[in-house]
Amino acid sequence: MELIEGIKTRRSIRAYKSTLIPKDTLERILEAARWSPSYTNTQPWEVVVVSGGKKDELYKSLTKMAEAGVPPNREWPQPKSWPPELEKRTKEFFAGRLKAIGVKGEEEQKNALRQVNANFNGAPCIIFLFMDRTLTTWSAFDVGLFAQTLCLAAHSYGIGSCLQAGIINYPDVIRETLGIAKTKLLVLGIIMGYPDAEAPINSYRTGRANLDEFVKWCT
Ligand SMILES: Cc1cc2nc3c(=O)[nH]c(=O)nc-3n(C[C@H](O)[C@H](O)[C@H](O)COP(=O)(O)O)c2cc1C
Repeated sequence: MELIEGIKTRRSIRAYKSTLIPKDTLERILEAARWSPSYTNTQPWEVVVVSGGKKDELYKSLTKMAEAGVPPNREWPQPKSWPPELEKRTKEFFAGRLKAIGVKGEEEQKNALRQVNANFNGAPCIIFLFMDRTLTTWSAFDVGLFAQTLCLAAHSYGIGSCLQAGIINYPDVIRETLGIAKTKLLVLGIIMGYPDAEAPINSYRTGRANLDEFVKWCT
């Protein structure tokens, strides 16, 4: 796949076929992502690939926490408020996802989204990105670059992905289940698999601001 075409056609996939991703394909994707740039080439990303029984065990543990009403405890807080333009985009995003599912009442919408999100959106594979807790924003930036390269590489092999803050509400549970030390900070989760082209949620396409809304040319 040509690079610019790949960048422009990648989009978040939120429903998957149950088909497993072959290990050698995952290795090729990770092999591409390791060429991501990083601050002084420190390569701070630490990657955990989860599937099969471990994924089921993790889902059960996370669901137990959510059902018990334990408040989410992500490593980084949400902003207290978004600047108005960003707030508008957030609202458009949430409305767009619900519209794709095609249900109207508030309660039905909540249930429908819960169903879509259940069991990691049906993804056969989850990739968690960690970095050492002693590191700073620079390294988080590097892990973000790694995540983008990973998703683009997956896309080039016909594999869909969606970056997921929604699955890292309980980092301690994730660390415990996966045997990861507390000294490692959980940056993000990524769900991955073969896209279910028939699923209504996957018909949702986000847009982007035009260049004149965010670029200032200084000459
Ligand atoms: C840090 C980060 C966290 C995200 N968390 C979620 C999430 O929890 N659930 C979800 O459905 N999408 C999540 N996304 C995907 C974004 O909603 C998506 O990238 C954005 O709406 C643009 O759409 P596109 O990826 O289809 O181009 C996340 C993206 C990023 C970068």
